Formats: sequence, structure tokens, C-alpha cells
Amino acid sequence: MVNGLGRRLCNRASIPLNTYSALMRSKDRSGKIRASLPERSTTTMSAADSLETALADLEALEKRGLSAFGGAADADAIEAVRIEFLGQKQGQLKSAQERLKALEPSAKRVYGQRFNATKQALEAAHAEGKLRLASKGEVQGGIDVTLPGLLPRLGHRHPLTQTAAELIDIFGRFGFAVARGPEVEDIRHNFDALNIPASHPARDPLDNFYLSDSTMLRSQTSTVQIRVMENQPPPVRVIAIGRVYRPDTVDATHSFMFHQIEGLMVAKGVTMADLKTVLRLFARSYLGQDVKIRFRPSFFPFTEPSVEVDMLWHGGDRWVEMGGAGMVDPNVFRAVGYDPDEVSGFAFGLGIERLCMRRHGIDDIRLLYQNDVRFLSQF
Ligand code: PHE
Repeated sequence: MVNGLGRRLCNRASIPLNTYSALMRSKDRSGKIRASLPERSTTTMSAADSLETALADLEALEKRGLSAFGGAADADAIEAVRIEFLGQKQGQLKSAQERLKALEPSAKRVYGQRFNATKQALEAAHAEGKLRLASKGEVQGGIDVTLPGLLPRLGHRHPLTQTAAELIDIFGRFGFAVARGPEVEDIRHNFDALNIPASHPARDPLDNFYLSDSTMLRSQTSTVQIRVMENQPPPVRVIAIGRVYRPDTVDATHSFMFHQIEGLMVAKGVTMADLKTVLRLFARSYLGQDVKIRFRPSFFPFTEPSVEVDMLWHGGDRWVEMGGAGMVDPNVFRAVGYDPDEVSGFAFGLGIERLCMRRHGIDDIRLLYQNDVRFLSQF
């Protein structure tokens, strides 16, 4: 306002001299002339003055408005500035619009155009200010609690790990404790103590991962039978779950590494009937009441008699070997210091991958090792 007033004073002071002289002259002339001259020249003078002043005021108003919108620090401040400048009732723009009425038609047009431009500029500044504050809120960590949100993708245990856990659970109910043994084994635990002599073809370097003359990656979990019996007197009732390694060519049913569950029960008077009962009960618990299993005579150096245990594969058209089993050979008892005349026992070793595959209808063992989430997420 101070500026506008200053301009107005200044404008008055700069009224052209000839206008004054015309005024002076008009006082000396006839009433008619006097009546028209001063009136006309006064209007002309005041219209020229008003337009220039009004335009200057408009410009000042715009400047003030823009800087007020630009400086507003929050939503309340923006709203206060909006009311002050764009308010419908007492806004400064509204007052500026009122001034239009007092202008001459030609001045009205000029002023009107300038007024519209000012109005648009202030409205744009208002919108811009609101946008600026909104995006500032986002940057500062504002959270829109109405957004639907993102569900984190939860993983779960691998199907083989699930299988192992379930086997431990089932055999736990039969009274079997869990034992563990190393994957890097010595030759005695993998072969000698299991009654597998040096000349046995199972010890062939081409069929095993030897690490040195006396160590290897275990080829079976039967090693844990020996470790358990070496460390505790009978009775024994344990299972051991873990990886075993054989240099097999990988195909749909073979892998150079797979998992076995070993079982060992030793006590007075344990018989083959106990072995068959435990394996049948287990198969029904894990694969369902309707599963069919069969025992075939076989040979293992560490069991006598020995059997192979088959299960009817999903689809029902073929038998697939589940593992080997048998009554613990007296030579094994002697190797660990048990008296074969005092105790008897059974042992079994089953492939965990095949159990898992039969249970879930999986046809290719490789799927269990590829870690493809599209496959794994189904279990
Ligand atoms: N260790 C044997 C194998 O890997 C399985 C087995 C275990 C057989 C215990 C008899 C007793 O083939």
C-alpha cells in the first residue's frame, strides 16, 4: 500500500502542464464552455490517472500475492494467503476487481486483461504452493495408511527338510532317539566295522569319494550305527538322518549326493518281525494307510538276513526301492564290543528323497536340488 500511495502522489505531481492551463482557461470562458471543458478534461485526467495507478496497484498486488504464496510454510498458511488474496468476500483481488467499475470503457478493457492475468497468476501460485507442501510431506516420510500395503513374501522349509522333520517325529513316537555322525568319515566306520572287507567291490575307488587313504565322504549312514554302539551299551534305539555321497551319474532317480535315514534297534530278543512291523508302521504313517510295501531277500555285509524294502510308486504301476534292512550281523556286534549271544537287533537305511517324492508325487529327484522357487513354493 505504501508503494501504491507513493505512485499515486507521484502521478498527481506529473499531470501535464497543458492540462492545468486548459483548466485555468476554462474558468474565464462562458458557462457552456466552462461546463463542458472542465468536466471533460477532469474525466480524462482522472481516467488516465486511475488506469495507470490501477495497473500499478494490480502489479504490486500480484507481486505481494506471489511472494506470500511462495513463503507459506504449511497448509494453514497457504489457506490464510488464499483468503487474503483470492477470498470471494474481502480478498485483495476482489477489491481490485471492483475498481473496474470506475474506469472508462477503453481503460476497462486494458485493466480487465491485466486483472485476468493477475488472477490466473495468483491461482497458479496457490495450486503450486499446495503441491509443494504435499510433496514436502512425502519426502519427510508421511505414510498413507489407506494404501493397500505390500505383503512380504515368506519363505518356508525345503520339502526335504520337512520330510526329515516328519521322519524324526514319526520315529520319535516309536521310541527312537536322533543320533548324528560326520559326513567326512574314516574307512573303519564306513567299511571295516560294517563287515565290508578290503576286497569288497563296494570299496572300489570308482564307487566312492575318497579324500585320502583313510578318509572319505561317507557313502551310507550305516557309519552312525557303529559310532552309536561304540559309545553306549545296549539297548539302542536310534535314527540318524544325513547326506551320503556316491559318484553316480545324475538322472531322474540318482544323484551324487542324497539323504538317508538310518535306523538301529538293539536289545535282547529283537527279531525280524520287529523290523517288518516298524517299517510297515512307518510307511503307513508317512505315506498313508493304503501304501503297499514289500520285502525282498537281499544281501548286505552288515546284516544277516538282509532284505530290500520296496514301495508301490505313485501311479501304482511299479515298485521302487525304499532302502535296505536286515538283522545286525554278529560280526558288526563283535566290532563294537557287543556280545551277539546276548543281544540281537535290526537296522535299516532308507532314501529320504524317494520317500519325499512318493509322498508328494514328484517324478524327478533333480527338482529337489535346483531350488526353483516355482517348484518349492508348492510344498
Ligand atoms: N546302508 C545300506 C545302503 O546304503 C542300507 C542298509 C542300512 C541296509 C542298514 C541294511 C541295514 O544301501
